[in-house]
Amino acid sequence: METKADGADGSLILIKQGAEARVFESSFVGRRSIVKERFSKKYRHPSLDAKLTLKRLNAEARCMTKARRLGVYTPVLYSVDIVLHTLTFEYVEGPSVKDIFLEFGLRNGGVVEERMNDIAMQIGHAIGKLHDGGLIHGDLTTSNMLIRAATNQLVVIDFGLSFTSTLPEDKAVDLYVLERALLSMHSSCGNVMDPILAAYRKSSKQWSSTLNKLAQVRQRGRKRTMVG
Ligand SMILES: Nc1ncnc2c1ncn2[C@@H]1O[C@H](COP(=O)(O)OP(=O)(O)OP(=O)(O)O)[C@@H](O)[C@H]1O
Ligand SMILES: [Mg+2]
Repeated sequence: METKADGADGSLILIKQGAEARVFESSFVGRRSIVKERFSKKYRHPSLDAKLTLKRLNAEARCMTKARRLGVYTPVLYSVDIVLHTLTFEYVEGPSVKDIFLEFGLRNGGVVEERMNDIAMQIGHAIGKLHDGGLIHGDLTTSNMLIRAATNQLVVIDFGLSFTSTLPEDKAVDLYVLERALLSMHSSCGNVMDPILAAYRKSSKQWSSTLNKLAQVRQRGRKRTMVG
């Protein structure tokens, strides 16, 4: 991708270089925005690769839109460019849940327990809504959740590994990924998973079969299966 304006009015500032995507900050018709570019994996056959990249790009856009329809806050999607393989969306102003939880873990960080509980509740509700709508996020980590500063609302991002499924197994693995992430990254926050699951039970009608599965998944200590 060129580093100057891509037809919009902003320059591109690289904020994250991943294995399959680059994330830039830019501006779109005068609004602060995020540009996510999927790029080829060099070891794949070029034409197959182009097809897969496009498929993933479309899947991410569709899943994000679906999440929003299910009542979960996501960034507004501004545009999809199938030539440059980019998605452009609204820049959400506010910290990630990861940053908030890390600050809470420092104890002197100034994050009060009430705020932690509110965030945990929002996370549980959001996942419950996604799952009841048959959407699996696929990468539930605290860096893929932002808190909009103006409203304190949870905004879920990064639907790059999302897919549709109504299987309790897939939902349980989705929750398990989050549980592992919390344990490895935010153990100093105490048990955040319990309030998350309490909220999940309230918002998902199918909580019972999912949480039964979760118990089995925990026992297997199953690692997350990568898609794509
Ligand atoms: N809409 C947004 N508003 C503000 N910041 C964002 C937004 N989208 C992404 N970011 C920032 O860019 C980072 C990377 O974005 P994203 O998670 O979508 O890409 P990724 O490369 O797939 O990351 P991952 O390695 O977690 O899969 C996020 O963790 C977040 O800090
Ligand atoms: Mg991410």
